[in-house]
Amino acid sequence: MAFFTQICRGFSTSCARNIVIKHVTIIGGGQMGAGIAQVAASTGHTVTLVDTSEDILKKSVKGIEGSLRRVVKKKFADKPEAGEEFVQKVLKNVATSSDAKEAVQSTDLVLEAIVENLKVKQDLFSALDKIAPEHTLFASNTSSLPITDIASSTTRLDRFGGLHFFNPVPMMKLVEVIGTSSTSQEAFDSLLNFSKALGKTPVSCKDTPGFIVNRLLVPYMMEAIRLHERGHGSKEDIDIAMKLGAGYPMGPFELLDYVGLDTAKFIMDGWSAMDPGNPLFGQSELLNKLVAEGKFGKKSGEGFYKYK
Ligand code: NAI
Repeated sequence: MAFFTQICRGFSTSCARNIVIKHVTIIGGGQMGAGIAQVAASTGHTVTLVDTSEDILKKSVKGIEGSLRRVVKKKFADKPEAGEEFVQKVLKNVATSSDAKEAVQSTDLVLEAIVENLKVKQDLFSALDKIAPEHTLFASNTSSLPITDIASSTTRLDRFGGLHFFNPVPMMKLVEVIGTSSTSQEAFDSLLNFSKALGKTPVSCKDTPGFIVNRLLVPYMMEAIRLHERGHGSKEDIDIAMKLGAGYPMGPFELLDYVGLDTAKFIMDGWSAMDPGNPLFGQSELLNKLVAEGKFGKKSGEGFYKYK
């Protein structure tokens, strides 16, 4: 038993195989899903991108094409023909479907990047669990929900993990690979190796709120708001201070506007519900007010700052 638990990360009852992921089905063709599809297709994987309608999928593929052309402009500056060949080759690797059940019938990995809602994610995985092949790994790109809770809707707890990418996916090198207490070592290693095959740098994380990056970053951004609320500094001065004093590329208010104030509030509300006494997860009146007014940041034209 000791040997078994060692090789299976200690908790699973059935050992998944360590598989090389060649075909990936990405559910959700929004900002993140389209970005992951672009990177996977660019690194020689075949991809099926799934969303709820053909119209959304057309937009996703157009977005991928535009992003690829920007990459190619720099990478193949002297050889535009080779660049065009690359774009066409990558696009050939991306199929689309508005039928998730059909799309997972033959795939190595189902990677979910849909709306950040536990029930919706659970319903999706529960349905796909009944159809996807036995060897298929499941992973979620959730930013704030426990992977364990999402996985609980399936019967493949040992083949379920988290793959948390960063926005914009083609630019950001990091992937947080999350193993739950049930994820087998083989499945975890497969997800780690897949991240490397995408040209990313993976880090191993426990299934705790915010994993590594957001667990440090979100309380930091919230403390910047509280600092401003207490009158200790203007948002402009706090942003300048963190950029010039700490070497951060964006100040906390600029970053909040980029992430989305609604998203930041959603994450904090979730963590606060999980751990109500934790002062790091406390509410901010200013953040609540801005979100109630529909000031979500860059995407809505106004957050802490105004955008044209
Ligand atoms: P998004 O809103 O841009 O895209 C979500 C897509 O999922 C939409 O196109 C929507 O039509 C589709 N969708 C919703 N329900 C679906 C279903 N049942 N089946 C198929 N498609 C469905 O969202 P975004 O920003 O791409 O986020 C997706 C996930 O990635 C969320 O869990 C989020 O927390 C996580 N994430 C987001 C980051 C960000 O900076 N935006 C960073 C890292 C993770």
